Amino acid sequence: MDTLGSRAVFVKLPQRPADNGLHRYAHYHIIQLAAMVMTEEQAKVKQQTKRILNRFGRKRGNLIPVLQKVQGKLGYLPREAMLEIAEFLDIPEIDVYSVVTFYNQFRLNPPGRHSIRVCLGTACHMKGGYITLDAWKRRLEIDRGQTTPDREFDLDTVACVGCCVMAPVTVVDNKPQGKVEPTKVDGILLSFKLEKERQGEESR
Ligand code: FES
Repeated sequence: MDTLGSRAVFVKLPQRPADNGLHRYAHYHIIQLAAMVMTEEQAKVKQQTKRILNRFGRKRGNLIPVLQKVQGKLGYLPREAMLEIAEFLDIPEIDVYSVVTFYNQFRLNPPGRHSIRVCLGTACHMKGGYITLDAWKRRLEIDRGQTTPDREFDLDTVACVGCCVMAPVTVVDNKPQGKVEPTKVDGILLSFKLEKERQGEESR
């Protein structure tokens, strides 16, 4: 039995005054369905992680290269992958989690369709990089290292990307954009919105 994904889910649902049983029945099956979807995702993650682990020896020193490979494949490091890695390397799960949260390069959340990376190198910092970062946080309603609930954008920071004359820089989908002040943040988001609307009209 899959110890990660196949646990039964027992939820006590509120009884409504006019409840004839259907309400509880429907909710119970929705919860069961959600658990099944999760299980499929988890099983896939485990399988992909195992395939990568087979290429490595069971040495603790392999932890970082393994994490890099798994993230390269999955785009982030889900809990199931970290558990698989801990078991394979025979180290406590908390050790894997500590390394993942210590290094900036590792992500705990799935990536968004668009990546936003705010440069906080010295030149960008001096030109208000943190103010730009705050603007992105406010507009996207997420913190650095997070992804918007619709998985449209993920936000993070980078060190100098070599375009200091254009500071403050934000790297949008791997393209550095210069002089990104808070007002330009709105413009970039608007262009994404318009592009999405255009694509939606074309597909009709
Ligand atoms: S410090 Fe931001 S590009 Fe150099």
